[in-house]
Amino acid sequence: MKVLIIHGPNLNLLGSRENEIYGTKTLGEINDMLNGLAKELGVELSIKQSNHEGEIVDLIQQSKEYGAIVINPAAYTHTSVAIRDAIVAVDVPAVELHLSNVHNREEFRQKSLIAPVASGQISGFGYNSYLLGLRAAVSIINAKKGSS
Ligand code: DQA
Repeated sequence: MKVLIIHGPNLNLLGSRENEIYGTKTLGEINDMLNGLAKELGVELSIKQSNHEGEIVDLIQQSKEYGAIVINPAAYTHTSVAIRDAIVAVDVPAVELHLSNVHNREEFRQKSLIAPVASGQISGFGYNSYLLGLRAAVSIINAKKGSS
């Protein structure tokens, strides 16, 4: 089974970007950990990063072959009707995640346009949010398999 991981805008800068909020791990290090966990869980990953809203929409539109999407939409979380609509359109379960706890930050970050159409949201566990997100995605896939 395949899982699509999408990193949104500015996450390519992890490791040098507001380390006190987002931690010191680079995106490459996080991706290595995700690949390690995927191996353990027996799933195949495709990992993408984009700074462009339309490109993220394209990725979601092309995700029908995946069992689930794990997405950190970053700043687009709070603004993007297009990403939300794409998730609804493809009907692939999506797990939303954030490194920081968006609920105890600025007010504009406390609203997610994605959360209402996601299977769930993980927020505030640093790089571990990604690993928890992947575990959540795999359990959604397995639960679906069990019920079909
Ligand atoms: C983020 C939180 C967003 O509010 C912010 O715009 C980001 C990263 C996080 O992972 O904590 O770029 O999604």
